Amino acid sequence: MAENAARAAELGAPVIDLNFGCPSKCVNKSAGGSYLLQFPEQLYAIVSAVRAAVPSTVPVTAKMRLGFEDKSLAIENALALEAGGVSWITVHARTKLEAYRPPAHWHWIGRINDAVSIPVVANGEIWTVEDALACKAESACDRLMLGRGALARPDLPRLIKGESEKVLSWSEMKLVFIRYAELLIGTGLPVQVAGRLKQWLAFLQKGYAEAALLLKEVRRLKCPDEICVRALAS
Ligand SMILES: Cc1cc2nc3c(=O)[nH]c(=O)nc-3n(C[C@H](O)[C@H](O)[C@H](O)COP(=O)(O)O)c2cc1C
Repeated sequence: MAENAARAAELGAPVIDLNFGCPSKCVNKSAGGSYLLQFPEQLYAIVSAVRAAVPSTVPVTAKMRLGFEDKSLAIENALALEAGGVSWITVHARTKLEAYRPPAHWHWIGRINDAVSIPVVANGEIWTVEDALACKAESACDRLMLGRGALARPDLPRLIKGESEKVLSWSEMKLVFIRYAELLIGTGLPVQVAGRLKQWLAFLQKGYAEAALLLKEVRRLKCPDEICVRALAS
């Protein structure tokens, strides 16, 4: 990881962010992602090796969950990441076992925030402005990372910042969707691109009723161009 991080920095990576939150079976079975949260000393070893390999101008950061199967090592893991030299930690407030099931335990982010002196970014289950406020209050973190909420409502950061005049209507949002399709077309087989587009629509339908209708219409389509035509007409 240190060698690859150094190479990434050479190629111009502005930040090296290490992901100790991934719950995927295929990653965990090769002792990667959230699996490592069972071994704080290994987190420390990885982070300090990566930190030492990367120029000091490039921040090394880490993302963690609250644990693998339980939360007993949450604080210890955060302290290990800090001791290893990360510039900030993003905490997804669930264990690997809790997968993506609500709730996210924001108060645990607060406990981590109290224990470390570096900035902590709060993540997990922020779908609305109200969620963002509640997460900030419970975690005492000013910094938030949005996951699925930003896929459902790409304007959520603006709403959280109080820029309600910049809300995206569906007619604006569908143009962003079509732009995404244009960027994707040619990067894989048409059926794969169509799959990606439908995947985003599945998130967008939580934020836009029009996306739910569009998804129903295009569910069986395998051609990205056809999906775009339907999107434009939606
Ligand atoms: C489709 C998808 C892909 C993701 N890929 C990554 C990833 O590559 N690296 C990462 O650190 N987290 C990844 N995550 C996790 C998110 O960054 C975030 O921690 C998680 O979704 C919880 O936040 P949320 O409840 O706001 O969605 C992914 C999540 C989703 C839904």
